Amino acid sequence: MEDNEKILILDFYGQFNQLIARRVRECNVYSEIVPFDISIDKIKEIAPKGIIFTGGPASVYEKDAPTVNKEIFNLGIPILGICYGMQLISYMLGGNVEKASRREYCIKSVNLDDSSPLFDGFENTNDCLMTHNDYVSKLPDGFRKIGYTDDCPISAMSNENKKIYGIQFHPEVNHTKNGIKIIHNFLYNICNCKGDWNMSSFVEETVQSLKEKIRDKKALCALSGGVDSSVAAVLLNKAIGKNLTCIFVDHGLLRKNEGDEVEKVFKEQFDINLIRVNAKDKFLSKLAGVTDPESKRKIIGEEFIRTFEEEAKKIGKVDFLVQGTIYPDVIESGVGKGQTIKSHHNVGGLPDYVDFKEIVEPLRNLFKDEVRKTGLELGIPENLVYRQPFPGPGLAIRIIGDITEEKLEILKEADYIFRDEIAKARLDRVLNQYFAVLTNLRSVGVMGDDRTYDYTLALRAVETSDFMTANFAKIPYDVLENVSTRIVNEITNINRIVYDITSKPPATIEWE
Ligand code: XMP
Repeated sequence: MEDNEKILILDFYGQFNQLIARRVRECNVYSEIVPFDISIDKIKEIAPKGIIFTGGPASVYEKDAPTVNKEIFNLGIPILGICYGMQLISYMLGGNVEKASRREYCIKSVNLDDSSPLFDGFENTNDCLMTHNDYVSKLPDGFRKIGYTDDCPISAMSNENKKIYGIQFHPEVNHTKNGIKIIHNFLYNICNCKGDWNMSSFVEETVQSLKEKIRDKKALCALSGGVDSSVAAVLLNKAIGKNLTCIFVDHGLLRKNEGDEVEKVFKEQFDINLIRVNAKDKFLSKLAGVTDPESKRKIIGEEFIRTFEEEAKKIGKVDFLVQGTIYPDVIESGVGKGQTIKSHHNVGGLPDYVDFKEIVEPLRNLFKDEVRKTGLELGIPENLVYRQPFPGPGLAIRIIGDITEEKLEILKEADYIFRDEIAKARLDRVLNQYFAVLTNLRSVGVMGDDRTYDYTLALRAVETSDFMTANFAKIPYDVLENVSTRIVNEITNINRIVYDITSKPPATIEWE
């Protein structure tokens, strides 16, 4: 990957920065987000094909506003400034930036000059998302105007000799029509990229560099059955084969058949050195009588680590510990944290007790969709690659109140039917997460001539892109009806089904 062409994205704290990086990669060019104050020497060392300045909340004329070393404009590397990025270019090169009479946050029809290589192939006008307080009121020397609206006289500018471009709107969001084409034009018409970033070359290069790094030493990986750790494990297996050992702690709180499926794929299909620890009884006995959600999480987290540790000790010293860290984890870490709503226990978090020399994170530079593509490239089955997110503490936080083996079985069966009907209705790729929750509520029902007094099951399904906010999914009534009929008929102990119609916020996705 070292020799791939690269685009550097200088981070001025804009809200869409990750999206810019993803769009560039969708155009088959590798991109990386770096702090805005990256040194000129470092930039020279990386030798990117182009640089993008992101948007950001500051005003360029404020004291302490984030800025760049002016030398960056003399490196001969093409630059595209977006929103704040454009204002910064203008401000630093002698143009003017002023506060607008009113803040703009809307889609505007922007007049574009299609003689500019940036807007090659565009109509005269294009709908673009504008979101700004300030605007460029005077062009810097050597620049020309290549876009305008009624309210924003300079919406795009360029200095074609120096290959420096600025746009006031956001090409990275879907609200901007053909926004990706503007990014594509920048990459191919202006930076002269060839487009060498794709997942098959990623696999090839990563396997090769893992081989060189690990040689005949030993690596250990905690496998959860989730997509990230699965892809990391298969990559490592391809590189070092039997020198990789995977430990899969099955806490018994996985969905129906899931433990067996994970074992089958990794042992049979990939012939991975896999140790499955069946620890259901141990986990259930620790959880007996526990009703508080946070206590459940804590117990499971601690027990998971203890179980993993016991197994790791048997293996002895290893040289490398494999982690399934992905790019959003890397760029998000360090960002100020809000209030903790739930303490997320992520199985596979960094264990400090395993005796190892170094961590390997082969997916550290990938976005989730790229991890999925890599998984498919490696031949991991689709149902695993597109597996919906599943919380580390598993079904324990979907059984409200205390957890018993009986409740666990009821929930596994009900959840299985729900998933089965969703797949039949072809909604499995549309919904981002969907599952059943066994409430602790019993109510009266009637079955034939008999009165019943059984559990109420809740169904939850959401649509979301980031899981920070989510809308409840408007599943068709006939699908809900099928699910409800099947569950009450096939599972004793459930006589009532409800559908959760709250979004997040105010509710959370999980019930506990
Ligand atoms: P909430 O319930 O906070 O969930 O809206 C947001 C996303 O996080 C998942 N989740 C967890 N994942 N450990 C995890 O690894 C946890 O303790 C945990 N709690 C919630 C949840 O499934 C959803 O995708």
